[in-house]
Amino acid sequence: MKATALAPSNIAFIKYWGRIDEISRLPTNSSISMNLSGMHTVTTVEFSIKYERDDIEIDGQKNDRETERIVDHLDRIRNLAKIDDRARVVSRNNFPSSTGLSSSASGFATLTVSASKAAGLELPEKKLSVLARLASGSACRSIPDGFVEWEKGIDGKSSYAFSLYPSNWWQIADVVVIVSQNKKDIPTTQGQKLAGTSPFFKTRLDLINEKIKECKNAISERNFLAFGNLIEKEALEMHAVMLTSDPPLIYWQPATLQMMKLVEKWRKEGLQVYFTVNTGQDIHLICKKDDIERVMVKLKSLDIVRNIIINYPAEGARLVKKHLF
Ligand code: PMV
Repeated sequence: MKATALAPSNIAFIKYWGRIDEISRLPTNSSISMNLSGMHTVTTVEFSIKYERDDIEIDGQKNDRETERIVDHLDRIRNLAKIDDRARVVSRNNFPSSTGLSSSASGFATLTVSASKAAGLELPEKKLSVLARLASGSACRSIPDGFVEWEKGIDGKSSYAFSLYPSNWWQIADVVVIVSQNKKDIPTTQGQKLAGTSPFFKTRLDLINEKIKECKNAISERNFLAFGNLIEKEALEMHAVMLTSDPPLIYWQPATLQMMKLVEKWRKEGLQVYFTVNTGQDIHLICKKDDIERVMVKLKSLDIVRNIIINYPAEGARLVKKHLF
């Protein structure tokens, strides 16, 4: 059978950095995110006896650096469905992959939904989230709708993501500023393993539950100032852990830092905009939907900006009718 799914990428406001268990990708802390309307992956999967081996195509290319991880995930789904057929997988991102824009989150969320359906499984949202987590931690947050919490849990089954609020809860935007299309040197999966080597990691974990509470309060009260201040500090704190890991992880480019300084300046001029950054050089500018135009005017005059993707809160992963092959 053939099935196709679409899943959004997501941006974490409270980040997932560090794992207590590598195999089942159990995170050291819970995290909070929002699905992104302008960045998604669509994937069609077909299991059939006509395929001799798994045949995987991502953005028109075979032999992507993710191929092995994708086959491992297909194996998990085949085991669950008790089938043996090989699969053809065709996947398309509408944004650059492997540059720190969380294409693995949307990619593995859509693969989970499409492949499990194509294998004949009917899994509830919680199970899909658990399954997606095994392939890529942050992918579990792209399954539910809107504003999402990933509860770290205590074992493989209790670590999954669920919706805190639907996508229409809060009219905020994430303007992604692409400053370079370079692929990252150190994939996130590898970087995550170094978190515990930072002397600041323990301090981060001591304070994280309080921070998660504050973040949830700010979202529930739609308190943009409290929210913006909190998420910017949180992104810098995660990068403080990365910078002080052994070996150190420096994901920023000069243009990333330039953007951070500009955001600070724009705020002093009265524009309510804050940044967050993941494992890449590109930067997410978080503002109220009503302020988008003002942010865009500022960005359009900058020569460090290569591309801009405007996002609003979005629904989670879902099956779609139009197949890619
Ligand atoms: O799910 P992974 O292994 O791609 O890790 C995601 C890590 C960050 O993007 C830096 C933080 C997060 O919570 O999304």
